Amino acid sequence: MTNPAASRSAPLTSDAARALGDRAQGLLDQLARVTDEPGRVDRTYLSPAHARSIDLVGGWMRGLGLATRVDAVATLRGRREADVTPETAKTLLIGSHIDTVLDAGKLDGCLGVIAGLLVVEEIEKRGVKLPFALEILAFGDEEGVRFPTALSSSSAVTGTYRREWLEVRDRDGRSLAEALADFGCDTARIDEARIDPAGVIGWLELHIEQGPLLEHWGLPLGVVTSIAGQSRFSFTLQGVAGHAGTVPMELRRDALTGLAEIALTVERVGRQGTNGLVATVGRVDVKPGAGNTVPGRIEATLDIRAGADAPRLVAIDRIRHEAERIAARRGLGFELHRHIDVPTCPMDDDLQAAFARSVASLDLDVRRLPSGAGHDAMAMARAFPAAMLFVRSKDGISHNPREWSSPEDIGLGVEALVRTVLDLAERARGGAT
Ligand code: GLV
Ligand code: MN
Ligand code: MN
Repeated sequence: MTNPAASRSAPLTSDAARALGDRAQGLLDQLARVTDEPGRVDRTYLSPAHARSIDLVGGWMRGLGLATRVDAVATLRGRREADVTPETAKTLLIGSHIDTVLDAGKLDGCLGVIAGLLVVEEIEKRGVKLPFALEILAFGDEEGVRFPTALSSSSAVTGTYRREWLEVRDRDGRSLAEALADFGCDTARIDEARIDPAGVIGWLELHIEQGPLLEHWGLPLGVVTSIAGQSRFSFTLQGVAGHAGTVPMELRRDALTGLAEIALTVERVGRQGTNGLVATVGRVDVKPGAGNTVPGRIEATLDIRAGADAPRLVAIDRIRHEAERIAARRGLGFELHRHIDVPTCPMDDDLQAAFARSVASLDLDVRRLPSGAGHDAMAMARAFPAAMLFVRSKDGISHNPREWSSPEDIGLGVEALVRTVLDLAERARGGAT
């Protein structure tokens, strides 16, 4: 098909959607086999599995004719030049992340990268000539699981990388600077990872919803309006380790019971919040961690998000204040460190409209929804028009190996992304209203 307008107007049969979804799922299954922990999906930033995933996805990119490179923060980039006046053409950025949480599903992030590859494949198959370049980005540090950083790889692309991140350490004491160097990245060249916004049309990210709304509405796709702001902290409680048989209850300074009280406070503050406020203590290390020793020290994390900034900031103040009181009453030292603070992020109106037109062209109701999860689009929006399209998640489950979307829904998502690229191409040529 050589007429791009024609290829973006007809509804897709469910067989065609399933075929496209099956193609995506086949690649996602292969990517999910690249893991640091056999039997489950673990692929954290700069791990051996991350390196192997770059080799795998980079090979697929080269197979599609993309020119690939890995930038100074280990983002894999695959570029297809414009078919028309490539010297002056702008670039449309597409993608998501290939790092995962621990014991992850197969779709979070990876879908957006694979969908970018399938856009290139479909553009070639349909014989479309694009007036802009495509660059498919596979970020490595979206989840912030290994290091306490905030969307660091996408921040490098927008020129908002913070060099103090290089000093943060993983649980084994390895600094981010050391891990990047081991990975073969030259941290002196991080500035060169920046993409000049003057040459960029925008950022498109296809992602699973990771929540229950689309399923509740009976819709496969939804256009994202904004992304919830998030703050992430680590905190410590310092008590006194002691013999579990000899230290009487009234003389204990037990860091774990202090943590228990603080975690319940976090839950209570979260429940009382507005604008979808959520607050989570997600990781707790108990030291020294022996069954016959009163816990002397706690190292834990706190994650707070909301659809607007004010409720999040109010909740942080309340939790900090109440945790300090609990710790003081129990004779515990308390320290809270903020690592990540990303404000609520609206998506670009024009790109939302482009996604909406593509969803409508598939004969689907257009629904809009906010995102509670964080995404690379939050960092990309600092420099470029950015938008996201969500694919329905089964039972709203994510960050869990049961994360699943049907092949038909995935196929519709990929087709909507393809059509959005065709739509933007048509507009760039001045041919559509
Ligand atoms: C990323 O998935 C996040 O929202 O934590
Ligand atoms: Mn994600
Ligand atoms: Mn995630």
